[in-house]
Amino acid sequence: MLFEVEGLRVAFPDRSRNKLFGAPPMIEVLHGVDLAVGSGESVAIVGESGSGKSTLARALLRLNEPSGGVIRFEGRDITHLAESGLRPLRRKMQIIFQDSQSALNPRLSVGAILAEPSICNGLVRNAREARERVMELLDLVGLSPDFYDRFAHQLSGGQRQRVGIGRALALDPSVIVADEIVSGLDVSVQAQILRLLDDLRRSRGLALVLISHDLSVVRATCERVVVLRQGAVVEAGPTADVFADPRNAYTRRLLRAIPLPVVDPEWIHRVQLDEDAEAA
Ligand SMILES: Nc1ncnc2c1ncn2[C@@H]1O[C@H](COP(=O)(O)OP(=O)(O)O)[C@@H](O)[C@H]1O
Ligand SMILES: [Mg+2]
Repeated sequence: MLFEVEGLRVAFPDRSRNKLFGAPPMIEVLHGVDLAVGSGESVAIVGESGSGKSTLARALLRLNEPSGGVIRFEGRDITHLAESGLRPLRRKMQIIFQDSQSALNPRLSVGAILAEPSICNGLVRNAREARERVMELLDLVGLSPDFYDRFAHQLSGGQRQRVGIGRALALDPSVIVADEIVSGLDVSVQAQILRLLDDLRRSRGLALVLISHDLSVVRATCERVVVLRQGAVVEAGPTADVFADPRNAYTRRLLRAIPLPVVDPEWIHRVQLDEDAEAA
């Protein structure tokens, strides 16, 4: 198992009730969540806004510290591991966020953004190797070499997400956590990005944790789905089973919220890749 999460609890200080002295009271946001992600597996985390999806994603990667429960990564308990202990693990677990505009440094070229992780981690010895690595990454995410010199503001939303994915791949991670990364993109561009992630997962043995409030996104991409409601798991299982026979009323409600009456689970494989249309 890549990730094993048992009884995970996360709490934040309640700023609305700030006390003059002492620590503010805590509000619990995740109330004992169980989750398992096998290596090379694709798992979706779905739920309405505010259900705790991003908090769970950040906890998995130990970007916040749990107040209870256990997180194991590759069999090792990382629940309270200090930053120095986490550092060597960080390159194996990468996260990509929705807001690709602000996630990419506007002052750096795509080439510099993609070179940075390899340079910082000493994976390349000189400028030539860094450039070669960037060209490999551009190719992996389906961007032509002339993207090397472009800047984030010159890219479409889909292209920015490709750069984000390329940067996440730079350190050859064993898992990518993608938090709402196709929200706000056109449906055909969504399909291209999801298919890219799925192809990368299969070809590189990468695990994918895909977070979305949109079940049609999840259905096309993930093998298993975990449904979160108010910080607790209300349903979990193989995606096809959950979609065919949702046991929980909340899951049925989420399914009814899908804008299309019938969602074709194969839709990502049908949409034609059309980079030019996207760039236009
Ligand atoms: N850093 C934080 N401090 C305080 N409350 C937070 C913090 N992050 C998230 N929350 C609260 O936790 C709950 C779940 O948020 P989040 O995990 O972002 O949900 P989702 O990603 O499903 O929309 C929300 O009520 C949110 O206000
Ligand atoms: Mg979120």
